[in-house]
Order: sequence, then C-alpha cells, then structure tokens
Amino acid sequence: MTAPVEITVSTYEQARDAFRRKELRQALYDEGDVVMADVLVNLHGDDHRARRRLENRLFRKDTHARYEQELFPPIVAATLAPHVARGRAELVGLSHELMMNLAASTAGVDRPLGTEDETRHLYRYLMVFIQGATLAHHTGDRDAKRAEVAAAMAAFDAEFLAPSIARRRALLAEVEAGARGEADLPRDVLTTLLRNEDDLHLPDDVVLREICFFLLAGAHTSATAFVRTLHQVLEMEDARPDDVARASTDLGFLQRCVHETVRLQPSSPIAQRWALADIELAGGVAVPEGARVTIDLMAANRDPAAFGDHADAFDPHRELPAGVAPWGLSFGLGMHACIGQDLAAGIDPMGRGLDADHLYGLVPTAVRAVLDAGARRIADDPPTVDPESTRGYWGRYPVAFPT
Ligand code: HEM
Repeated sequence: MTAPVEITVSTYEQARDAFRRKELRQALYDEGDVVMADVLVNLHGDDHRARRRLENRLFRKDTHARYEQELFPPIVAATLAPHVARGRAELVGLSHELMMNLAASTAGVDRPLGTEDETRHLYRYLMVFIQGATLAHHTGDRDAKRAEVAAAMAAFDAEFLAPSIARRRALLAEVEAGARGEADLPRDVLTTLLRNEDDLHLPDDVVLREICFFLLAGAHTSATAFVRTLHQVLEMEDARPDDVARASTDLGFLQRCVHETVRLQPSSPIAQRWALADIELAGGVAVPEGARVTIDLMAANRDPAAFGDHADAFDPHRELPAGVAPWGLSFGLGMHACIGQDLAAGIDPMGRGLDADHLYGLVPTAVRAVLDAGARRIADDPPTVDPESTRGYWGRYPVAFPT
C-alpha cells in the first residue's frame, strides 16, 4: 500500500475552509475503533446528519441553562468542598474529578454512590477509553491494548451503563403510560438515544461506544481548559493585578479568559481528514482524492491575519475582526463542530451587553468557584508540567485555600 499524500494547513483561512468541506471525512480516530467505531465524530454524510439531528435536541439553550444554573452548581460545590476543607488541592486531579462528574451527568451515566471513590473508579475507566480512542499513538502491543480497552468497556457496561439504561427505560415506559410527565425524564444523551424519536434503532454496542465517547469528549477537554485558565489567571497576579481582580468578580471577563486560553491551547492540537474527492482549498491548495489533510490548530489559532500582531500572547482584551471567534477554531467548525461548545464555554460575550439569561459555560463557572474559594499558588510547591505529555499538560498544580 502506498503512503497517502500528506497536506498540512496552518493558516486560519485554510483551516476554516477545510473544516467546512463535505468532501473531507474524519481521519483522526481510524485506529481507535474499539471505542470510536460509529460514534458521532466518526460518522459522515447522511449517517452523521441523522445522529446529529437526534442529539441536537438535547444541546439546546434551555437544556444548557438548566445544566449551568441548576444541575452543575451542586456538583461543582460537592466536588470542591472536601478540597477546600482540607485547605489544599491538586488542580489536575481535581479538574478531572469535577469534569468527569459533569460529563457523566450530561452523558446519562448514573452515579449510584456519588462518592469520591466511585468518581475515581469511573475515572480509571475513562482513562482506558482515552487510550482506546488514541490507539494510533500507542507504542506497545496494540492488540493487547485493544483487548484491555474492550474488557474495560464491558465492565463499565455491566457496572454503570446497564443500570442507567434500565432506570431510563422504566421512566420512559411510565411517561408512555401517562403515569409521569416529560419533566421527570433526565435530560442527557442516553435518554435522548433511548427515546429513539427518529427511529435510528442504534444497536447496544453503538449506544455503549457513544456514551463512552461523550464521557471522554466532555471530561478531558473541559478539565484541561479549566486548569490552563486558572494558570493564566494566577499567572497574571504580579503583572496585571487589575485583570485578576476583574476575573474574580466579572464572570463575562473570566469567560473571555477561558476563550483566550482555549484559543492558545486547543485540547487537540490537530484535526485530520481524508479527501474523498479532488478539491482545492482557500489560497489555491490542491488536495487530491485519498490525501490526508492535517489541520494545524495551534498554528491557525495564532495566525496574525485573524488574531493580530501579538497573536501568541494571552490577551483577554483582544479585539477581533467580525466573524472570528475568540476561541479560534478550538471547537472545530462545519459538520463536526463541537456539540458541547455552548455547554463548555457559553455564548461569546464579546461586543454585547450580557442579559440575565446569558450562558457563561461550565468551564468559566467552575473556574469562578475555585477563585471564589480563594485559591492561591504555593510558593514552595510550584506547578510542574507532565514530563510524558507532548501537549504541554500540567502534571501537578497544587493550590492552597484559606482555612
Ligand atoms: C473546552 C471544552 C471542549 C473542547 C475544546 C472541544 C473541542 C472539540 C472539537 C475540536 C471538536 C471537533 C472535532 C473534529 O472536527 O474532528 C469537537 C467535537 C465534539 N465535541 Fe467537543 N470540545 C469540548 C467540550 C465538549 C463537551 C463538554 C462535550 C459534551 C457534552 C463535547 C462533545 C463533542 C462531540 C459529541 C463532538 C462531535 C460532534 C460531531 O461530530 O458532530 N465537547 N469538540
């Protein structure tokens, strides 16, 4: 088999164009079938449209408002409380615990115990699912890893998913029989899939993978954005004390800090697509059928043509040209544009007054909760970068809370 033609696009304009092309299909998860076969981000054309239409029903403004204002605050408070009481926290662990709990609630994975131990147990499953989705980067025996991931998914299914399905099926039957109202149904991905209003009839193994995918799509991305934003805010302490004070009191400004952080450090530094036909991208880049297109998000999000002369700098006051989002292309665009974007990062607050029902997003809201609790860096226990990560993840980020 001959190696495919490889094309990398690095400017904002070309990257935006590539995301929007229907002739380009998902290529990032080809090796990760054990988790990623037939999940939303891996579907194309009519199959993708049908699944997305069904799931879009959940990701609407009223559901986001309910999550942000009612469902998430108690989860954030309960997850944070033991750390604040101890007077210290390690933000990398805390962020995953927190976002894992929020992602489980969005995906529809019930938490019968709701304990810290149960969160850690579920988190270990999540880490194995991530290894499954990114099998292409696994340097050891891939078949052995694939078998390990499949075994973890089967155990997760028996322990968490099957009881969550049974509870929802019982509720749906009661709604059908008129014994309950619609308002009693959980608003989550699993319930949306089980209602099957579009007659998609997804097999059990696809439902299992879709839920595992939603857990990893929601938890890891939001957790890294959360720690990185806190770092940016705490980092401003000496040089820009006014901005730190504003970030602690003005949630719209803090939301801009999250967007600027996500622009500079997208959760995934690249997206990849296969060309299904010969096409030409903006700027005259010829892409032959069968080529693999890598969208370099790190570069596109720092393109001075879109973000100005100091595109590399963290500047939450940055003015942007019309049509350029403050988070750059970090939530993708086109058919696979992130379904959880508004939930994670809220609605773009730039250039408009914030009305009472403005959505700030779960990452800004969670960062705010940590700042409200008085988080401070610890002089003799500085944060360290994960030595095994090529993506600049923090390994440890200790903070203290006033006691
Ligand atoms: C800071 C947080 C997040 C970031 C940076 C992020 C980033 C992205 C990106 C870049 C894509 C497009 C991938 C591609 O085109 O290949 C995407 C798709 C997706 N994201 Fe997110 N995401 C975040 C949070 C979430 C959350 C909270 C959820 C779930 C509630 C979620 C669910 C999804 C799903 C289901 C897709 C696939 C959409 C489709 O294929 O139609 N994401 N995300």
